Amino acid sequence: MAQNCCKSCFFLPLFFLLFRNNSINGPLPNLSNLVHLESVFFSYNRLTGSIPSEYIELPNLKQLELQQNYLDGEIPPFNQPTLTLFNVSYNHLQGTIPDTDVLRRFSESSYDHNSNLCGIPLEPCPVLPPAPLVPPPSPPAQEVETPKEQQAGDDSSPEGTDKKMPHSQSTEDPERRIELPFFDKNIPVFDLDDLLRASAEVLGKGKLGTTYSANLESGAVVAVKTVKYMNSLSKKEFIQQMLLLGRMRHENLVHIISFHYSKQEKLIVYEFVPDGSLFELLHENREAGRVPLNWAARLSIIKDIAKGMAFLHQSLPSHKVPHANLKSSNVLIHRDRQSYHSKLTNYSFLPLLPSRKSSERLAIGRSPEFCQGKKLTHKADVYCFGIILLEVITGKVPEETSPAGNEEKVDDLSEWVRMVVNNDWSTDILDVEILASSAGHDEMLKLTEIALQCTDMEPEKRPKMSEVLRRIEEIDRTNQEND
Ligand SMILES: *[C@@H]1O[C@H](CO)[C@@H](O)[C@H](O)[C@H]1NC(C)=O
Ligand SMILES: *[C@@H]1O[C@H](CO)[C@@H](O)[C@H](O)[C@H]1NC(C)=O
Ligand SMILES: *[C@@H]1O[C@H](CO)[C@@H](O)[C@H](O)[C@H]1NC(C)=O
Repeated sequence: MAQNCCKSCFFLPLFFLLFRNNSINGPLPNLSNLVHLESVFFSYNRLTGSIPSEYIELPNLKQLELQQNYLDGEIPPFNQPTLTLFNVSYNHLQGTIPDTDVLRRFSESSYDHNSNLCGIPLEPCPVLPPAPLVPPPSPPAQEVETPKEQQAGDDSSPEGTDKKMPHSQSTEDPERRIELPFFDKNIPVFDLDDLLRASAEVLGKGKLGTTYSANLESGAVVAVKTVKYMNSLSKKEFIQQMLLLGRMRHENLVHIISFHYSKQEKLIVYEFVPDGSLFELLHENREAGRVPLNWAARLSIIKDIAKGMAFLHQSLPSHKVPHANLKSSNVLIHRDRQSYHSKLTNYSFLPLLPSRKSSERLAIGRSPEFCQGKKLTHKADVYCFGIILLEVITGKVPEETSPAGNEEKVDDLSEWVRMVVNNDWSTDILDVEILASSAGHDEMLKLTEIALQCTDMEPEKRPKMSEVLRRIEEIDRTNQEND
């Protein structure tokens, strides 16, 4: 409270405290002993801090209006039977709404538009995911000695190394800390302010937004994506989708650590994967002193992608296209001594995008069915998977085609491979880097066959992801026996 105003108020035998819309800042006043108090109206101010727990002991409280402030912390367990009006909406409250008889009476509009409030009548609170099959990643900070200058996403820009996260809500008020929801207790908790204070660098600019790496004061490094094109999305829809995705755990998916919704911008905080993308691994430094990517590494990467995809398809059966954005720049690489592992990222954005027009920005925008305006299914992901397979086999960059109104256009890469293979089933298509060694040519050609089935123009003719995974695992087994 503004000091001059309220010091004196406290000592009056009050029934009402009316301070609506007064630009009052500071914490809520201590109202202990004001046993006659019936109505407290502090809405539309700039109050900070938490709701004092003593308020639950005001025996005659009938009306409490605290909406449109900057209050944080949890809601105390109000349970005065006298309470008939209660509004804490538009604050930064968090945690579970206490399950008391009285608080249960009020509807969503008493609670909504808070940073991270959950429980009846709002969204259920995030359940921590079951223990992952593999140990969760330790905070990756230690693994990253020198941050990479800048990683090429498909259309990345060199701007902005080592700066703060750009953010419209930067916090002038140090007391106003916005908590972020966390899916995994093993990850050290940070809040929005920590994130904004972190030194950030641009990892890539994609068609949906920019991704930064953020070095937190705790030493942890996370990847933060600011997402555009989702402004027609309600907070509820966004949160629902994030809760769904955040609970998914698989070693071949980049985990979502947290997220933040505001009207103007949405942030998704991802696990940071240190070794760049498959796109870079395949296509960068082709001339200068490059270590060739051998067949075993390629097969391992492909198998990981197939595993991640099969998991996504199994976990999100009702999603039209579960990944929808599979391309080599969205496959992140994690190197572990000699071996390469991959993790899928930027997945499951399709339900967040408002229109078909905006979905064109996703990798499925290049599938024949999208270009022809036909129905999209899981098979659009299978198509994108086929293109990645071809890219890994041939070492060529798939031609990016503009899907808008171009019925004829298909990915040149699959056309080209189809042509070569049809004319003369041969090793000509293989990347020169693997052509040189004789190992694995047969398996590579078997993979090519799978890739061509996956990129069939007719979605129904493409195999399912689970079938693709089964066949790739079989090839992998043969490969290991031959070693
Ligand atoms: C509020 O005021 C009461 C009585 O004046 C006092 O006992 C209590 O400690 C105060 N609470 C806080 C949090 O300052
Ligand atoms: C709570 O306050 C918000 C913001 O002023 C308003 O939109 C909403 O209707 C109120 N709800 C109730 C139950 O008073
Ligand atoms: C998502 O896509 C962008 C642009 O392609 C890329 O820079 C970024 O590394 C990807 N991964 C994450 C976690 O956002």
